[in-house]
Amino acid sequence: MPRISIKVSSFVFLAASGCLAQTQTQTEFNWTSIKPSAKLKWTKCYGEGFECARLLVPLDYASPKNSKTAAIAMTRLRSTSSSSTYRGSLLINPGGPGGSGVEYVLEAGSEIAGIVGAEYDIVGFDPRGVSFSTPSVSWFVNDAERAMWNPPNANAMYHSLNESTIALPYAYARSQVQSQLAAARDAGFLQYITTDYTAQDMLTITEAFGFEKLQYWGVSYGSVLGATFAALFPDKLERVVIDGVLPINEWYSSNISNTMLDTDKVLNAFFTSCFEAGPTICAFHNNANASSASDIAGAFQTLLSSIQQTPVPAIASLTQGNAGYGIIDYTLLKNTIFHALYAPYDLFPALAQALADLAAGNGTTLYATSGVEEFTCGGASALDRSFEAAVSIICSDMTPNVTLPDLRAVYAREEALSQFADLWANWRAACAGWKIRRPGRYTGPTGPMKTIAPMLVIGNTLDPVTPWPGANQTANILFPGSGLLTYNTLGHTSFTAPSSCINSWVYAYFKNGTLPPAGTVCQPDAGVQLFSPNGTDGLIERDLVDGVSVNGRVTKRKLPFRL
Ligand SMILES: *[C@@H]1O[C@H](CO)[C@@H](O)[C@H](O)[C@H]1NC(C)=O
Ligand SMILES: *[C@@H]1O[C@H](CO)[C@@H](O)[C@H](O)[C@H]1NC(C)=O
Ligand SMILES: *[C@@H]1O[C@H](CO)[C@@H](O)[C@H](O)[C@H]1NC(C)=O
Ligand SMILES: *[C@@H]1O[C@H](CO)[C@@H](O)[C@H](O)[C@H]1NC(C)=O
Ligand SMILES: *[C@@H]1O[C@H](CO)[C@@H](O)[C@H](O)[C@H]1NC(C)=O
Ligand SMILES: *[C@@H]1O[C@H](CO)[C@@H](O)[C@H](O)[C@H]1NC(C)=O
Ligand SMILES: *[C@@H]1O[C@H](CO)[C@@H](O)[C@H](O)[C@H]1NC(C)=O
Ligand SMILES: *[C@@H]1O[C@H](CO)[C@@H](O)[C@H](O)[C@H]1NC(C)=O
Ligand SMILES: *[C@@H]1O[C@H](CO)[C@@H](O)[C@H](O)[C@H]1NC(C)=O
Repeated sequence: MPRISIKVSSFVFLAASGCLAQTQTQTEFNWTSIKPSAKLKWTKCYGEGFECARLLVPLDYASPKNSKTAAIAMTRLRSTSSSSTYRGSLLINPGGPGGSGVEYVLEAGSEIAGIVGAEYDIVGFDPRGVSFSTPSVSWFVNDAERAMWNPPNANAMYHSLNESTIALPYAYARSQVQSQLAAARDAGFLQYITTDYTAQDMLTITEAFGFEKLQYWGVSYGSVLGATFAALFPDKLERVVIDGVLPINEWYSSNISNTMLDTDKVLNAFFTSCFEAGPTICAFHNNANASSASDIAGAFQTLLSSIQQTPVPAIASLTQGNAGYGIIDYTLLKNTIFHALYAPYDLFPALAQALADLAAGNGTTLYATSGVEEFTCGGASALDRSFEAAVSIICSDMTPNVTLPDLRAVYAREEALSQFADLWANWRAACAGWKIRRPGRYTGPTGPMKTIAPMLVIGNTLDPVTPWPGANQTANILFPGSGLLTYNTLGHTSFTAPSSCINSWVYAYFKNGTLPPAGTVCQPDAGVQLFSPNGTDGLIERDLVDGVSVNGRVTKRKLPFRL
């Protein structure tokens, strides 16, 4: 969802999570200078319009009186409307899991306020266990140990389970080590770092604002969080938008293979739109010397096989930092392509250029656009632990009993759906050996649910990781009565491309509770097209860290949220 800019690369399995260097200056706020409290006490932070607070919540909602506490880090972009029109907090979640809501509001708060109106405080919170919230999940004794396990400048991200014949069993073994490490070093709180308790935190936050019912907009994994809230507190819901939807029945039964339904269709759109754009706009068209989209697809597959057999060196810079050199292997290449499928309007042109250069034997461009991080130790921020938080949340929510044959079966099922199964099956691999299960945790819906107010559910017609049927199922079967808004576009979540149609429905919903009539389909704004000769200026750039200029067009280096 490139319209929302976020610094943290959230769901990156086996990801660069170690000693990252490039912390944005705006993240430099000393959270420990705020004393956590049970009432909201706001302190100016970060910049104009932002305030921060740390809210005490029970670590264990099963016995809130006796429980230890957690402190939820929150940042709000203050409402600028008068007190008579003020409508309280609108909580936002960027997905992941493990994504930082604090970062999200810093990057995207003003754009979101621009869509929903100035009557709300736009409130980003770091879910329990994540980032600036405490206690925060950390499996490693120090940053050096973390960086040894997950080197930030290695070709990490999702290790391809298809890179070699041992890749899958290797990932299985590796995850068991992680799982045991997490359990052995857990100070007794990991069992509470689950989506159901984060949903309860959202109610606690809402009440701390002096309101009874939730107002919320969650994207990607944030849809799981929003729907979990709706399932647990159906009468505490005022306005909930979920966008890029993964159905919670699939989430809690750890059966998320269906999320790969449309992934390859987005890739196919790369081939067709590249062909239609022509060689001056789509660089890979040239290289394929294409007389049809399938020529481009063929050249693409040839390139993939070639890199699978023969990795190539990439040297962007030997003098500027230590992320300037590496190896283009199958894992790095597949991750870079997969990344582009999340944000095709933004990233397809740069992907085409990178592939063209790579096919011509030059890996530099691809390496530079891959999102590889600088390797340093010592300056690491809490954000770097998002990978540990992500895996802890997923595995504690799902607690699948993963065996090697089971993992192979999941891989085979996903491979039948998508050629990105080698990346995606890491979801299942990561929970191998996970031991943390809280008795009584929410385990998913048992039938249709009725909420006191309807949710607004948004699904894109071609989303690479949260396909449209998940939104349809959520709006029509799990939560009948919800509004379903279909966005005829490709990419992940409605933030993939600007649409005043989407914005006006979201606005009307927050304003009045108005739902789009059944069957409503929005289009991107006029002029928004893949391989647009004019680029996609005007999108809310989501993953802007430091741009890399490709053919005069700035592309983004940061990996997006994985879910
Ligand atoms: C952050 O604030 C705490 C408490 O006020 C203080 O002890 C600490 O030195 C501060 N850290 C930095 C890096 O300024
Ligand atoms: C996962 O979900 C799909 C589609 O709903 C279903 O066909 C399949 O049987 C499920 N797999 C398992 C292991 O539950
Ligand atoms: C493309 O094909 C034409 C006709 O076969 C050939 O003349 C030209 O050299 C090719 N260009 C590239 C970049 O391969
Ligand atoms: C590879 O491509 C980059 C970017 O276009 C260029 O700067 C570099 O000189 C090329 N390297 C080689 C060895 O051709
Ligand atoms: C996990 O699966 C293995 C192999 O099928 C089985 O032996 C074991 O009892 C299962 N454990 C649990 C907790 O279900
Ligand atoms: C795995 O690699 C083989 C051999 O290159 C290829 O045929 C297959 O499509 C790949 N599968 C995935 C999911 O990448
Ligand atoms: C959407 O959900 C409805 C209600 O369950 C179902 O009847 C319909 O077939 C679904 N549409 C698609 C295209 O899957
Ligand atoms: C909200 O409702 C009011 C009163 O019915 C109406 O005037 C206004 O146009 C509605 N606004 C939106 C955005 O639907
Ligand atoms: C692209 O930019 C040119 C020059 O500013 C403009 O005339 C044209 O309408 C734009 N095209 C699109 C599709 O926005």
